[in-house]
Amino acid sequence: MDHALEPPPETLAAWFHAAVDLALEHVGALQDQPAHGPAPNAAELAAAGAPIPEQGQDPRPLIARLIRDWVPKSFTTAGPGYLAYIPGGGLPTAALADLISGLTNRFIGVAAAAPLLVRLEVAVLRWLLDEFRFPAGARAVLTSGGSVANLIAMAAARDRTVGEEVGRGVVYVSNQIHHSNTKAAHVVGFRRAHVRQLPVDAQFRLRLDALAAAVAADRRAGLLPAVVIANAGTVHSGAVDALPALADFAARERLWLHIDGAYGACFQLCAEGRRRLAGIERADSLSIDPHKGLFLPYGTGGVLVRDGADLRRPFAQESAYLPLAVNDEALQDFTDASPELSRDFRGLRLWLSLQTFGANAFREALAEKLELAGRAHAAVAAIPGLEVVSPCDLSLFAFRVARPGADGDALSRELLARVNARQRVFLSGTLLEGQFALRVCVLSFRTHAERIDEGLVQLREETARLLRSAT
Ligand SMILES: Cc1ncc(COP(=O)(O)O)c(C=O)c1O
Repeated sequence: MDHALEPPPETLAAWFHAAVDLALEHVGALQDQPAHGPAPNAAELAAAGAPIPEQGQDPRPLIARLIRDWVPKSFTTAGPGYLAYIPGGGLPTAALADLISGLTNRFIGVAAAAPLLVRLEVAVLRWLLDEFRFPAGARAVLTSGGSVANLIAMAAARDRTVGEEVGRGVVYVSNQIHHSNTKAAHVVGFRRAHVRQLPVDAQFRLRLDALAAAVAADRRAGLLPAVVIANAGTVHSGAVDALPALADFAARERLWLHIDGAYGACFQLCAEGRRRLAGIERADSLSIDPHKGLFLPYGTGGVLVRDGADLRRPFAQESAYLPLAVNDEALQDFTDASPELSRDFRGLRLWLSLQTFGANAFREALAEKLELAGRAHAAVAAIPGLEVVSPCDLSLFAFRVARPGADGDALSRELLARVNARQRVFLSGTLLEGQFALRVCVLSFRTHAERIDEGLVQLREETARLLRSAT
C-alpha cells in the first residue's frame, strides 16, 4: 500500500522550503503592499471554492497561488499601514512556533501528556500574571482570542456570584462594550433582558451614577446584581473606564469586576501604559489579546482570574479515560480552566517570541504606539474641518468631519473612502452617539512614525479637497 500521507523527508523539505521562501517574500514586500487589497473577482472566488479532488497533487503551485494571488486580496492586516479595527501585525516568531508545534504535534491539554511543554506555557502565564500585578493564587489560561476569554470570564463570574440562580443575575456594561461580552453573558445563562447597557460620559466611560442607580433598582426588584464589565480600551474610541472607581464600587456592592482588555490591556507592559491603566490589577477577571497587544498572529487571547479556584470552578472535571489530573502552580491541566480539551500549543507562540526578542522589546514597541497615537491625535485635532470626538486614552481615537450646516456623517464616510483609496493607510469607522466617526488605531509592531506622518499628510490633503468640493 502506498502511504500517501507520509511523503519522504526530501519531498517534505522541498515543500517547506518553497512555502517559507514564498511567505518570507510576502513579508518582505509588506511595506509596499497596498494597505488593503482589491476585492477578488468571480473567477478567483470560484477557483478558491473549487471542489476537493480525490487524487492529490504537488502543493507547491497551490501554495504559490495562495500566497501571491489570494492572500493579497484581503485587508493587509499584517502591514504597517493597517490602522483599522484593531491591528496586531503577526510576529514571525509565532509562525515559527506554529511550524514547530504543528510538526511535533504534542498534546498539551493535560500536564501529564507533555510536562515540559505545559511548564513552558505556565511560565508565560505566570509572567503575564506578574505584569498585571495579580496576586499569588491567581490563574490564567490562553484562549483562541478575546471573545473566548470573555466567555471564560463570564462562566467564572457566574459560578462565583449567582451559580444556579443565574436567571435572576444581572450584568452591567456600558453602551460601548464589545459585543463578545454580551454574547458571553448570554451563553453562560444570563438573560438578555438582564444585561444592562448603561450610558457613558463625554469621554465614553461608563457612568458610575448610572451604574449605581441600575444596581439599586435591580436590588429593589429582587434581582441579583452580579457582574460589572469595564473596558480597558473600548473598540469604538479606545476609552479606558474609570477603573479604580469601578473597582471600589464593585467591592462595595460585592459585584464581580471583569475588565475587557482585549484591545488595551497589554499597554500595561510599558510604564506610560501602566499609568494610564491604573486599577486594572484590581479586576476579578481580565481579558487580554496577545494577537493584538503583543503583536501575535490571530489565534491567541488569554484570561487572568484573581482567584484560581474561580477559574477552575466551571471547568474542572475528572474523566476516567484521561491521565490523573494535576493542580499545582507549576504544572496545570489547561482543560481545567477552559471548555477546550484538545487545542493548539499557544504558549509556544508567546514563549518563543518573548525568548527571542526579550520582554523589553515589547515594552518599547508598546510605548512607541502610545506616542505615535498621541501625536496623531494632536495632529488630527489641528486639521481644519476635522474634530476629534474622543480623547486618546491609549492608541485609538475617533474623529469626524465637522462643518456647520453640512451632513457630517456623509462627509465623514466620504473622507474615509478617499483616504483608504490612497492605499497607504487603512482606517475604519464606527458610530459614536449615533454619529459616524473615523477611527485610527495604532497597534502593529510594523507601524512607525514615517507611515503615520504619511497618513496624516494624506488625511490633510483629502480633507481640504473634500471640503473644497463640498462648498
Ligand atoms: C475590546 C474588545 N473585546 C473583545 C474583542 C474580541 O476579541 P477577538 O476578536 O480576539 O475574539 C475585541 C476585538 O477587537 C475587542 O476590541
